[in-house]
Amino acid sequence: MEKTFVMIKTDGVERGLIGEIIGRIEKKGFKITKAKLFQPSRELVENHYIEHKEKPFFQELVEYIIKGPVMAMEVEGETVVETMRIMIGDKDPKKAQPGTIRGDFAYSLTQNIIHGSDSIESAERELKLWFS
Ligand code: CDP
Ligand code: MG
Repeated sequence: MEKTFVMIKTDGVERGLIGEIIGRIEKKGFKITKAKLFQPSRELVENHYIEHKEKPFFQELVEYIIKGPVMAMEVEGETVVETMRIMIGDKDPKKAQPGTIRGDFAYSLTQNIIHGSDSIESAERELKLWFS
């Protein structure tokens, strides 16, 4: 069964959106097979976002993800990687459609509540990174 990595970012945890987001994932029919609420290290988050290392927003992004607890999850289901990306919505809160998690709750491009792996290869890499 396909698996993906989903993380409720620090703003999502702070704003009390864990229940809402887990509810959406479960109601869709996906299974949360691992979950961990903890404050990640700088090293872990820099590695997670390695593809953005040279981007101007990289430092701000890392500081935001390490500032408090995040909810890291392994989510399982048919075509879960692509479907979770659709349920999450565009990273830009102006473009995220209503009905998506970011469309309904996010108002900042950096602080956009949730992460989901963008491909099966990324999901494998990210699950290994966060859960071993
Ligand atoms: O998260 P997603 O895969 O949808 O977007 P990304 O392009 O891989 O960017 C990763 C994360 O970096 C975003 O979710 C934002 O939190 C942040 N970001 C930012 O702060 N400023 C940007 N111009 C682009 C992304
Ligand atoms: Mg991405």
